[in-house]
Amino acid sequence: MWGKAFMTQDIKEVLLSEEQIKKRVQELGDQISKDYEGQEIIALCVLKGACVFYADICRAITVHLKMDFMSISSYGDAQKTSGIVRINKDMDTSITGKHVLIVEDIMDSGLTLSYMKRMLEERQPASIRTVCFLDKPERRECDITPDYCGFVIPNEFVVGYGLDYKQKYRNLPFVGVLKPEIYS
Ligand code: IMP
Ligand code: MG
Repeated sequence: MWGKAFMTQDIKEVLLSEEQIKKRVQELGDQISKDYEGQEIIALCVLKGACVFYADICRAITVHLKMDFMSISSYGDAQKTSGIVRINKDMDTSITGKHVLIVEDIMDSGLTLSYMKRMLEERQPASIRTVCFLDKPERRECDITPDYCGFVIPNEFVVGYGLDYKQKYRNLPFVGVLKPEIYS
């Protein structure tokens, strides 16, 4: 029925359904709106992986926020981080004295976010917090935890809802585990 290029054929298992994601993102938005009541946020999207989550979480937040984007690469096309973070595009907004909320797709080794936090702290914001859609704590290589987290997941390589394998599968509306034959 489906051609070979149909991406859902490459998925072994759906880990998080569209409904589960929607519900959890709303809960996170409610929590963040409560915690930042009366304040303004600079919501920083870490491209590309966070783009889908970012669009949803921003619309679930009810306090004033300004959007900004940073593009970094830490992964290349492989499944394991190199630990080296390259900034392809920096943010446009000055964050000095502002409340920054970094929006990320997943915390894995934690190296990307600890690097980003250290770099942004030098710009002297009023505060920095992180919201990660997913967290894989088993893989952590440094001392960092997200301030807000959508779901804690096991140590499996997942795609969808912004997360990619070799730049593909970001447009899957759910989070799934890839069939091993796709990457072996
Ligand atoms: P960290 O620096 O190891 O925490 O890596 C974080 C980045 O690795 C994320 O922003 C993702 O781009 C990527 N990553 C880690 N785990 C996965 C996964 O399971 N699927 C897709 N990308 C992942
Ligand atoms: Mg990413």
